[in-house]
Amino acid sequence: MKGGMNQAYWDDIAVRYDEEILDAVKNDKNGVIKQSIRGHADKTHLAADFGCGIGKTLPLLSRCFSIVDAYDLSGKNLELARWKCRRFPNVRYHHRDLSTDDRISGKVDFAISINVLLAPSPETRSGILRTICDGLLPRGILLLVAPSLESALYSDFRLLEWNLREGVDYDDARREGLTADSKNGGAVANGIVTLDGVATKHYLREELHVTLRSMGLETIETHKVEYAWSTEFDEVPAWLKGPYPWDWMVLAQKR
Ligand SMILES: C[S@@+](CC[C@H](N)C(=O)[O-])C[C@H]1O[C@@H](n2cnc3c(N)ncnc32)[C@H](O)[C@@H]1O
Repeated sequence: MKGGMNQAYWDDIAVRYDEEILDAVKNDKNGVIKQSIRGHADKTHLAADFGCGIGKTLPLLSRCFSIVDAYDLSGKNLELARWKCRRFPNVRYHHRDLSTDDRISGKVDFAISINVLLAPSPETRSGILRTICDGLLPRGILLLVAPSLESALYSDFRLLEWNLREGVDYDDARREGLTADSKNGGAVANGIVTLDGVATKHYLREELHVTLRSMGLETIETHKVEYAWSTEFDEVPAWLKGPYPWDWMVLAQKR
């Protein structure tokens, strides 16, 4: 993998993971991720977490499935995951670049991948998704969580509203309030949104459906994973309520 979101990038983040990376499961306001995992729980089934990070979802997967294969590009993240989940002996750890290395430990009935398909490079993303899809048994289920492009654009819209309410002139609000992506139209054109200075792929709901279908998976459910506004903005005013910002969570079945 070339620069950008490579192993060095993710290894570097490992030490301050909790400050840098949103914990999607913990911040999921309506608990849709946990509910879906529990809804597919089967102690005779195999599961995998593709891009497990420091292992936030592994304890739940370990309790719900017989064996859990945890894959990640970052050796440091995997080390932390192994230590944090040391009381869960049915988890196996695999250090892999899923974009180029399609070796899997075994096909699984249920796979999750939460905010891993983030790289701006389409080759990197499709390599990862291809490895994940190949790792599913026929009729296996993938639970995929990915940043929502609609949400990124919608957050900009609410930020503009906020600035206007504060009395900022419309042109100034656009110039100073909006992200560079929104100002130049880049986000709309290619789904790449800059988050904390890092170019990050975001997806339209339908884009996820079409992408998964091209990999042989049919979408069976789509949910919003909603988060509090404090995940987007500092010092959130009391009036700023729902709809809240979100990631997309898609459940798709292998044909
Ligand atoms: C934003 S973190 C999310 C981690 C975890 N899924 C969670 O929700 O806490 C993205 C993770 O994907 C991993 N990752 C990124 N590219 C990868 C690749 N090509 N192969 C394997 N893992 C990758 C990173 O190392 C990182 O741990």
